[in-house]
Amino acid sequence: MVHGSCALSVYVAWAEVHLAFYAQRALPDLAHEFFLGAFLAQPPAGELLFVGSYSAMLPERLAAPLVLCDLNAGMLHAMQRRRPDAQAVLADVRKLPFHERFSCICMPGAVTAHLLDDLALNDALEALSTALLPGGTLYLDAYLPEIVNTDYFSGHASFHVDAESWTRIARIAGFDTQSGLLQVDLQFVDPQGRSVCNDRLIQRCYSAAVLAKACTGHSLRLQDCFADTDKGRLYLALQRDH
Ligand SMILES: C[S@@+](CC[C@H](N)C(=O)[O-])C[C@H]1O[C@@H](n2cnc3c(N)ncnc32)[C@H](O)[C@@H]1O
Repeated sequence: MVHGSCALSVYVAWAEVHLAFYAQRALPDLAHEFFLGAFLAQPPAGELLFVGSYSAMLPERLAAPLVLCDLNAGMLHAMQRRRPDAQAVLADVRKLPFHERFSCICMPGAVTAHLLDDLALNDALEALSTALLPGGTLYLDAYLPEIVNTDYFSGHASFHVDAESWTRIARIAGFDTQSGLLQVDLQFVDPQGRSVCNDRLIQRCYSAAVLAKACTGHSLRLQDCFADTDKGRLYLALQRDH
């Protein structure tokens, strides 16, 4: 079993580049509509916790107070520059400093892919469940094994940072179907053609049954499950028991 660190330097030094890529290239791959309902329909007293870096998909106006959370300071600060209305908390999703606070938590963009073993997954689900008010809802997504059949981690993708053209080159270097662990070589090429960031990420894919079963062990009841096999993405909505 691989035990990897989540505090990846690639997300610290190149936060703005990652966020630009997510906003321009990756977000169309994501089922926005799955999360949008959660963003817009909050009870007046409820707070919304947003975990991970896909803040570009947040609507400009929210019905609920917003708290942003990420493990990496670079990503968190870049998100906060975009959302000065939000409170920002630097925290690992496996050890969230919250108890029965949020009526809704959204964790889009496959943060689950960084939970590389069952211990990490269970710690995160327990922390997320504890952070929810009883009856509150958790929306998350994950990569299905079919992500290896898509171009998300394979090939060249162009995007812009401050009107300059960048390229992200990705290549799948290995995939273990038993553990669901995927090795991805990631490279960013700057407007001058220099390769400024080279890293090998380990990401975890899940089958819908495995992830849904893990959630139910943490007082989380499955409300909705949508597997988009063409795009290699899985979406779960879960309600914390009362
Ligand atoms: C949303 S994922 C995106 C990765 C995905 N492979 C992609 O390229 O689309 C990356 C974000 O999750 C954050 N992250 C990773 N592990 C985390 C953890 N344990 N707790 C909180 N945030 C985490 C990273 O810092 C980063 O901002």
